[in-house]
Amino acid sequence: MTKSWTVPALSRHKVAGGVSPLVMVTAYDAPSARMVDAAGADLILVGDTLAMVVLGYEDTLQVTVQDIAYHVAAVRRARPTPFVVGDMPWMSYHTSPKESVENAATLIRAGAQAIKLEGGRKRIPMIEAIVNAEIPVMGHIGLTPQSTHAMGGFKVQAKELEAAATLIDEAKALADAGVFSIVLEGIPDVVAELITEAVPVSTIGIGAGRGCDGQVLVFHDLLGFEERMRPKFVRRYAALGADGAAAIGRFAEDVRNRTFPADEEIYHTSSEVAAALQARFRSA
Ligand code: KIV
Repeated sequence: MTKSWTVPALSRHKVAGGVSPLVMVTAYDAPSARMVDAAGADLILVGDTLAMVVLGYEDTLQVTVQDIAYHVAAVRRARPTPFVVGDMPWMSYHTSPKESVENAATLIRAGAQAIKLEGGRKRIPMIEAIVNAEIPVMGHIGLTPQSTHAMGGFKVQAKELEAAATLIDEAKALADAGVFSIVLEGIPDVVAELITEAVPVSTIGIGAGRGCDGQVLVFHDLLGFEERMRPKFVRRYAALGADGAAAIGRFAEDVRNRTFPADEEIYHTSSEVAAALQARFRSA
């Protein structure tokens, strides 16, 4: 049975204190939220990966606040026990603190219990404004997919000494600005460990090794919906893409060889009504 989480409890959840790591999985609609809930995850992230794994875009830059809000609402209609975080899409927190607060509020009104946004020091005025509006903020640093063009693609970050030192500083600055947790994506394990030691809030890793306070994977990646992209950090626990195609193939075969639908899958009238209908319409 999953427990229901609060922001303060999530924030102080540090594995160094002897607790087991937090489990976060993305979900984008009611059925996926129900599955993540039934599995006993601690958090659901309605991530902007929505763009790639659900909406078919090549990167995460195409989704809007309205898209994320629509999917947050679908997730919350499943009434999941895990804590629901809504992802702020690109350009929803880049231009001004006021606009950032308004966009964060849209996700909260859709049902998110907190929001997540990408970036380090540059985003601090926006983070502070959102936190001041009483909206809990989860940070996200390292490989930040919304910066794909600026970074030159989806590349592991902080591999060199100075870049790693800067990232550790950025993590501390985010914690000082009031984030309750930080996603660490695509960074060497030692850097993630040092950040996890350096900040008083929980860290949740994706492609960041074992030393974080939790781990997150994308629903469609962990369930193996497709083979197109498979980063090193993804472990597949099912092959739902292949299993689904095979199942639909069996349906197609049954339709074509006329074994679907079977008698028990058909609605019937009484034989009298059927006979009367046939007599009236077939003889005409
Ligand atoms: O949008 C998302 O799914 C994410 C995770 C990969 C952390 O940000």
